[in-house]
Amino acid sequence: MNLPNLQKAKQRTLKEIEYKKLETSNDEFLKGQKFFLKTYGCQMNVHDSEQMRAILIGLGMTETTNLEEARVIVLNTCAIRENAHDKVFGYLGRIKHLKKENPDLIVAIGGCMSQEESVVSEILKRHPYINIVFGTHNIHELGTLIKNNIHGTQDIEVFSNEGCVYEGINYARDSKITAWVNIMYGCDKFCTYCIVPYTRGKERSRKPAEIIEEVKKLKDQGYQEVTLLGQNVNAYGHDLKTTIDFAQLLEEVAKTNIPRIRFVTSHPWNFTTKMIETIAKYPNIMPYIHLPLQSGSNRILKLMGRRYTKEEYLKLVEQIRKTIKGVCITTDIIVGFPSETDEDFKDTLEVVNKVKYDGAYTFIYSKREGTPASKMTDITPLKVKEARLQKLNDLINKYAKQSNEKLLNQEEEVLVLGISEKDSNKVYGYTKTMKLVNVAAPKETIGKLINVKITDAKSFSLDGEILSK
Ligand code: 5AD
Ligand code: SF4
Repeated sequence: MNLPNLQKAKQRTLKEIEYKKLETSNDEFLKGQKFFLKTYGCQMNVHDSEQMRAILIGLGMTETTNLEEARVIVLNTCAIRENAHDKVFGYLGRIKHLKKENPDLIVAIGGCMSQEESVVSEILKRHPYINIVFGTHNIHELGTLIKNNIHGTQDIEVFSNEGCVYEGINYARDSKITAWVNIMYGCDKFCTYCIVPYTRGKERSRKPAEIIEEVKKLKDQGYQEVTLLGQNVNAYGHDLKTTIDFAQLLEEVAKTNIPRIRFVTSHPWNFTTKMIETIAKYPNIMPYIHLPLQSGSNRILKLMGRRYTKEEYLKLVEQIRKTIKGVCITTDIIVGFPSETDEDFKDTLEVVNKVKYDGAYTFIYSKREGTPASKMTDITPLKVKEARLQKLNDLINKYAKQSNEKLLNQEEEVLVLGISEKDSNKVYGYTKTMKLVNVAAPKETIGKLINVKITDAKSFSLDGEILSK
């Protein structure tokens, strides 16, 4: 048993990152049985689930979307905000009931929540029917943990491999068209509201050669798009012994000629001119940047530990807009951070009015145990925070619609991903700038890049018709 310790996370120093190759094992001891896998949270978790799925398939199992017929249930959890916890614990109520009827059921909890001390002790005390708690650093051990748990013990394996970067990971990917590629793990920024540096550990970069090899393989398999993943991709390479940085890595990935390259998430703090120039230089690096603002108030930004001012952020946006033709910028904003006043909130609205984002994810601040912000005084009533969020969302939606309307009657390249959810006679896909388009086009276009004329613009999507295949 290996338990997490949130308080010690910031002091953890990695001696030396260990690079380890994983061996694929084919022990099909649960052959023919079914697993149920549920994912909460961000793209990182979605991609981790692709690793979990490959492991479960490797045990001889097949996936089911019916909880009742599963022999193994795996929940890949998120800890970023309180409601993420509530959702998981709500769901566990159903699972507890199932376990009573079927004692052979194996229940495993992974992801960020399983890295939290308070959650692990709650599971130990109150949820004995959960068999396995595995951390974000122990995903590759899931198969062995399940094998050891076949007789119903409780096993907790968290944090034991924190300083490792694994290669040779198998993924059962959700898509055959677009793929996630981890370039680094963890985060060292320690923004004061955020739990990620505690749950995901220190920044560890994968070696460039391994990343390039993965992208080349994906390209050979017919993938049209890769999204380079990291909590803070522009910190890429800082921990490596070589001098490579994110701009150089992007350049090398671009040279593989994979048709589309994206990356998430960038921190405005170390977003370099070289990065901007590289994005502008290569047509296969998409002109789309997710650039979290969090707040427009310098006082709040300082309390958040964000390392930039409103003015620096705006200057960066200006430089990005000037250099990358047709770029779209989206953001993340938190309202109601402890001590945020109406004046501070006005500063946020001012930045939104200046940047005119193409879209944004907005959140009410959520107190996360163990983070510095959780000790800050927070007296703003929830009602006030909700009203601020509403006002912010209205403004964001206004600009998102304006940005979409600019594309009316324009020609856009769309990567088609599947049948449209709204109309089965249409397909859907994304423009280079990450705008969702429903297109009147045959399903044979799925997986292809097509040229589309935009015929209608809404707040959150576009309609279009195919111009050529
Ligand atoms: N409360 C609210 N939102 C948060 N985020 C991260 N931590 C918190 C928190 N404690 C938001 C940030 C981040 C996004 C992924 O989630 O905006 O960019
Ligand atoms: Fe959290 Fe800040 Fe790291 Fe993003 S950069 S994951 S907000 S600590």
